[in-house]
Amino acid sequence: MLKVLLPHSIERVLLTEETIMQRVQELADQISIDYAGVRNEDFILVGVLKGAFIFMADLTRRVTVPHRVDFMALSSYQGAVARAGTVRLIMDTRADMAGCHVLIVEDIADTGYTLAYLQRLFQARNPASLRTCALLNKPARHEVEVKVDYLGFEIPDVWVVGYGLDFADRFRTLPYIGELKSSVYQE
Ligand code: IMP
Ligand code: MG
Repeated sequence: MLKVLLPHSIERVLLTEETIMQRVQELADQISIDYAGVRNEDFILVGVLKGAFIFMADLTRRVTVPHRVDFMALSSYQGAVARAGTVRLIMDTRADMAGCHVLIVEDIADTGYTLAYLQRLFQARNPASLRTCALLNKPARHEVEVKVDYLGFEIPDVWVVGYGLDFADRFRTLPYIGELKSSVYQE
């Protein structure tokens, strides 16, 4: 029934809006427990643009521990084609994170290069602690080992869009996470 309403580029809905929101709440609850007692100035959530912007907005509003928000922008893809390990820093964070508890908020761990790059970059800035929260993980695609401390969902090796994730900058604002038809990126 739902299929009738899907844009024709979407193969199927992988995660409904409701399923996502329930998991985001659980992640926020766990984060709020784990960081209880930290001071506002000492706790920074860093969202990775653009893919994590919706996840970041929903997550940070549910984290009950006082915290600051910051963003950085990275790029590693042209359309759906990974250029092995190439990560470009488009925009850095504003905050000086030395001595702070930093939590990276990312949309998805695919090959793992982006998170590995970020973790290495941030670790060199001497945070008090550094952890990673990713909404999605594609274990079948990992090329480098990355540690994800808070994970939303494991998904199969398909290209997903919606809830912030894109294909060629499209589909980001779909409320659910859907599998893109392979015909779209094989065009
Ligand atoms: P990685 O460096 O290969 O782990 O790729 C990470 C980045 O690629 C993510 O931050 C996403 O922006 C993008 N990405 C990887 N897989 C997908 C997908 O299935 N849909 C949309 N974006 C993706
Ligand atoms: Mg992206």
